[in-house]
Amino acid sequence: MAKLTLLTGLALLLNAHIGSAYVLSCYFSNWAQYRAGLGKFLPDNIDPCLCDHLIYAFAGMDNNEITTTERDDEKLYMFFNGLKKQRENLKTFLSVGGGNFGTAKFSTMVSTPENRQTFINSVIRFLRQYGFDGLDIDWEYPGSRGSPPEDKELFTVLVKEMKAAFEHEAKQVSKPHLMITAAVASKLSEIQSGYQISELGKYLDYFHVMTYDFHGSWDGHTGENSPLYLGPADTPDFTYFNIDYAMNYWKSNGAPAEKLLVGFPTYGHSFHLKNASNATVGAPTTGPWPAGSYTNQSGLLAYYEICSFLDSGAISSWYDPQVVPYAYKGEEWVGYDNVRSFSAKVDWLKQNHFGGAMVWTLDMDDFTGTFCEQGKYPLINTLKKGLGLQNGNCAPPAQPNPPVTAAPSQGSGSSGGNTGSSAFCAGQANGI
Ligand SMILES: *[C@@H]1O[C@H](CO)[C@@H](O)[C@H](O)[C@H]1NC(C)=O
Ligand SMILES: *[C@@H]1O[C@H](CO)[C@@H](O)[C@H](O)[C@H]1NC(C)=O
Ligand SMILES: *[C@@H]1O[C@H](CO)[C@@H](O)[C@H](O)[C@H]1NC(C)=O
Repeated sequence: MAKLTLLTGLALLLNAHIGSAYVLSCYFSNWAQYRAGLGKFLPDNIDPCLCDHLIYAFAGMDNNEITTTERDDEKLYMFFNGLKKQRENLKTFLSVGGGNFGTAKFSTMVSTPENRQTFINSVIRFLRQYGFDGLDIDWEYPGSRGSPPEDKELFTVLVKEMKAAFEHEAKQVSKPHLMITAAVASKLSEIQSGYQISELGKYLDYFHVMTYDFHGSWDGHTGENSPLYLGPADTPDFTYFNIDYAMNYWKSNGAPAEKLLVGFPTYGHSFHLKNASNATVGAPTTGPWPAGSYTNQSGLLAYYEICSFLDSGAISSWYDPQVVPYAYKGEEWVGYDNVRSFSAKVDWLKQNHFGGAMVWTLDMDDFTGTFCEQGKYPLINTLKKGLGLQNGNCAPPAQPNPPVTAAPSQGSGSSGGNTGSSAFCAGQANGI
């Protein structure tokens, strides 16, 4: 009997472990709604079966309180959090800050106990009001870009106080406590000046390590956005600019491996070559390539825009030393990720026992499946499959949308969004 119990216990343990082995966290950007035609992306384009955690980017801050940033955020929050009706264990986060937010408001907020308390109280009210499960802090970065050195410690203080307040509130309202994650730096100098790593590891639920933007047109020469390893073209200044170095730095300095999520970009960085005859990695460039027709940001191309670039006759080349591709045509050059590189990086992630993957963003994958001919969300599906994730009792919506019969017209990119998702869910909903 005792033996049987032991075995049963072991089986249960193993099951629990398998069920929660890896996490897939995906960002949604609230400005993707303004893209034209097939690029337009709203929360109802999100496949609720795809990612375990969905993160809404971005909220702002005013007088030390969390705020919306777009006119229709409140409406979009409702759609976003409504996706949980279709999937039992889906968790949603609201991300505050972002790459263009700056550091000033964060620095002011953490500078006094009163300001921190004001912020924390506003966060609890806001997250509960709209039905989010946690906060993602995207401060780029404590201790750099104008943020003073003492912010490194104050960031820890904020997170520690927030965790205590979240636990206290959970007891009062008898609900699971709100979670805390942070989007954190991947470049060595910014990590060193920004984070008390092992202390943060006690309070944060997950670290979203932004292992991308390692190279871009600001370098003056071509380079990969999200290289796995150091490459032969990397000069000594760039020794630390790769996923392998950054993730292992976080891990060896005290962040629990199971809380470290590796950042996967669904976009590439584009360059204008100085000389079309030299398109190697490290070749001289004169600046960014002009914006893509959907994402409208110079020096950046969404994965689906890169598929169009390849269709237009660009040459694609696999860069073995860094396990990522690049493509070029004339004087245009882009370093990016594809199904092959995502797949190879997932294998590496598993070998190194990290907690899972974070994706920036849902809306830059080929979410309609019309550009790359690899199905919907080919990159994020590669992560889901590679990490061996289940659908988590994902069910199709109670009232399925009518099937889309006509080709989507300009500006109606969101109208058919749910149809594809529900078909996907129905097809994959298996008895675990
Ligand atoms: C461009 O590069 C090619 C090959 O390296 C070289 O022959 C050519 O002179 C270069 N052109 C210019 C304008 O530098
Ligand atoms: C391309 O540029 C790199 C970096 O400047 C240089 O080392 C290499 O010799 C160039 N290749 C050609 C073919 O010009
Ligand atoms: C593209 O971005 C520029 C500013 O960078 C803006 O003026 C323009 O309206 C944008 N176009 C579209 C279609 O959003």
